[in-house]
Order: sequence, then C-alpha cells, then structure tokens
Amino acid sequence: MTLDLTVDELLTSTRSVRKRLDFDRPVPREVLMECLDLALQAPTGSNAQGWQFLFVEDPAKKKALADIYRATGTPYLDMPAPVRGDMRDAQMDSVLSSAKYLNENLEKTPVFLIPCLEGRPDGAPAGMQASYWGSLIPAVWSFMLALRSRGLGSGCVQQSGVRVGPDQRYRRVVAG
Ligand SMILES: Cc1cc2nc3c(=O)[nH]c(=O)nc-3n(C[C@H](O)[C@H](O)[C@H](O)COP(=O)(O)O)c2cc1C
Repeated sequence: MTLDLTVDELLTSTRSVRKRLDFDRPVPREVLMECLDLALQAPTGSNAQGWQFLFVEDPAKKKALADIYRATGTPYLDMPAPVRGDMRDAQMDSVLSSAKYLNENLEKTPVFLIPCLEGRPDGAPAGMQASYWGSLIPAVWSFMLALRSRGLGSGCVQQSGVRVGPDQRYRRVVAG
C-alpha cells in the first residue's frame, strides 16, 4: 500500500528517520523486494548495473555491524560540529542528537540494506570515483523514496566506510 503523496511531496518530505524509527515494526520481505525493484530503475554508468543489495536481519550480524559503525561513529559524533555560517548551523544540534541516538541504537533497526558494487575504486582518479559511486547511490535514494511512499522511514549511514576505508570486517560479519 502506498501513501497518497504527489511526486513533489514525496521528494520534499523524505528525510533521515532516526529517533522515530519503529524498531518493533517488522518489514515484510515483499515490501523490501518491491522497493528494490523500483530502486533498480536508477541509472548506472555504461548501464553496468554492477550492484548487489544485501539485506541483513539477523540480530547477531546487525549487532556486529553496528559495533563496527560505532567504532568510528562515536568519536566522529563527539567531535565539535562544523560551523558553516548559514542555516545548517541552526539544524546541527538536532542532526547530531538524532545521529547519536541512531549510533547507540543501530542494531535495533529491523533491516539493514548494504548496497554493494563490483570492483574497487581505491586510488582511482576523482572522475572515476564519481562514476563509481554515482552508479550506486541513486539506487539507494530511490530505495529510500520507495520506502517512504509505503510509510516506512530510513536513513543513510556511512561512518565506517568513511573512516575505516576498505573494511574486511564487514565481509567477515556478513559472510558469518
Ligand atoms: C552519504 C551519506 C552518509 C551519511 N552518513 C550518516 C551517518 O553515518 N549517520 C547518520 O546518522 N546520518 C548519516 N547521513 C544522513 C545525513 O546526516 C542527513 O541526510 C542530513 O543530516 C540531512 O538530513 P535529512 O536527510 O533529514 O534531510 C548520511 C547521508 C548521506 C547522504
């Protein structure tokens, strides 16, 4: 079932949901697959579609992934917030408070989606990096929009990737 939203309403009302995530609400597999089907319409460089999408629902794996996230997320969120001299400064307290809440509760989220892409862009020139990540992130956003239009909240988290770089620990956790 989808909400009665115009496309413009959907695009302007989809936000990162953290404090208001309902940890006890199961997300049916059919809904995830429906949103994934929509996300797969996103563009990719050279029509490569080299993506794979991994859903994690196992509590022990989610906890292990959340611990990896926190190892870099906690010190990052404890750093002084950047001052930018515009309206983003006024939003920063609530963004940080919300991000800290998610950092502490990440494993309670019913489902993690880990978007993956063939290859590794390490050391590639910036233009190649843009093309690489630009062939994955539109699909992630489409997935989030599709969830929103079905009344489900979501948020992007990227701490571990940013701080740790190529993370073998993710592979170990996910592979079990
Ligand atoms: C690439 C990317 C990485 C992000 N990483 C995190 C993160 O690690 N933790 C988090 O709580 N939010 C993360 N966010 C969410 C942003 O903080 C959020 O989009 C921003 O504050 C604007 O809020 P809004 O999405 O509600 O408009 C990330 C967003 C993007 C696009």
